[in-house]
Amino acid sequence: EKNISVGLLGLGTVGSGVVQIVEGHQEELVHQLGCGVTIKSILVCDVEKDRDVQVNPATLTTNPEAVLADPEIDIIIEVMGGIDEAREHILRAFKAKKHVVTANKDLMALHGPELQYAAKQNGCDLFYEASVAGGIPIIGGIVDGLASDRIEKVMGIVNGTTNYILTKMDDEGVAYEDALKEAQELGFAEADPTGDVGGLDAARKMAILARLAFSTSVDLADVEVDGIDGLALEDLQFGRQLGLKMKLIGFADFQDKQIEVSVQPTFLPENHPLAAVKNEYNAVYVNGKAVGETMFYGPGAGSLPTATAVMSDVTAVIKNMLLGVTGQQVVTPRYDKVLKSPEQ
Ligand code: NAP
Ligand code: HSE
Repeated sequence: EKNISVGLLGLGTVGSGVVQIVEGHQEELVHQLGCGVTIKSILVCDVEKDRDVQVNPATLTTNPEAVLADPEIDIIIEVMGGIDEAREHILRAFKAKKHVVTANKDLMALHGPELQYAAKQNGCDLFYEASVAGGIPIIGGIVDGLASDRIEKVMGIVNGTTNYILTKMDDEGVAYEDALKEAQELGFAEADPTGDVGGLDAARKMAILARLAFSTSVDLADVEVDGIDGLALEDLQFGRQLGLKMKLIGFADFQDKQIEVSVQPTFLPENHPLAAVKNEYNAVYVNGKAVGETMFYGPGAGSLPTATAVMSDVTAVIKNMLLGVTGQQVVTPRYDKVLKSPEQ
């Protein structure tokens, strides 16, 4: 039976989940693909570190070239995070004609178009389902599921850490700092959580979704951002007295070829469906002209949910490899970007 070898960049929260799925779901992978998947080598910072998953120590390396230049490796899974090094490794992978799957929204929000161009030039796939809303197949939902529609609005909760913090504060009276600490311990928060609580993580995801949904170029700088840092229990208590729940809401709208994208803490009526989304769960409405209103719901962060999205991309890449095609989630911008001015 044929085996496809993959290289993993990173063995933290998401990388450990990928190892668990590759090991635990080999039967499903073989059934889907007609071939097995093997993780041949794994790039880490510290090979001696105690880890949550057992891996063959011989697969661990601190030398990127041991993964990126290995001719037996067909697919690179980038789950190390950060921007500059991750970008360099992905460009190096394309030069070596390797396909790439990434969970890195920081990178895709900032350098997505450049990386997609490089993938195309090298005849490689670049998939990034896990970069938005963890285990929810939202990118596939927009790019494939709603391909024929004209999407007019994308709105919802796209950050698990802040939703976890808001839920713990509102439902259990846990202090902001303690709730953030819990979210970090559970692996939901970024290595530097200021992007989560400041709204930047959600803004990156909304930029990616808006690009795909509206076929325009949307930059991170186009997103109006506010976060939940500095929030006190009293703020939520005030809302509760009025029958309101606070959520960090991402909003992207496309009307008359003008785009508006924002991330804002927002009070919602407590019977609003988004008000019922708890803990690290995310939920995103996508409104299309033909389909009407759709809602995507599920775990927005965490090891196995995110790794599931990563591995669904890996299976898509392998199916393409077996067919001898590439099928990137590249949407050539169809409209010139026109931002809605605040006074409109
Ligand atoms: P993490 O737990 O901090 O793990 C990062 C891993 O990458 C670690 O194994 C680390 O090695 C390795 N690493 C980091 N920098 C490196 C470098 N310069 N050279 C070699 N190895 C390096 O991060 P994570 O939570 O798994 O997140 C990974 C990526 O997935 C990020 O882009 C994040 O935004 C994205 N993501 C995360 C989630 C989530 O729920 N956590 C969900 C969706 C997307 P050591 O183990 O040796 O330190
Ligand atoms: N830190 C991110 C979050 C991880 O809390 O949503 C998932 O992208």
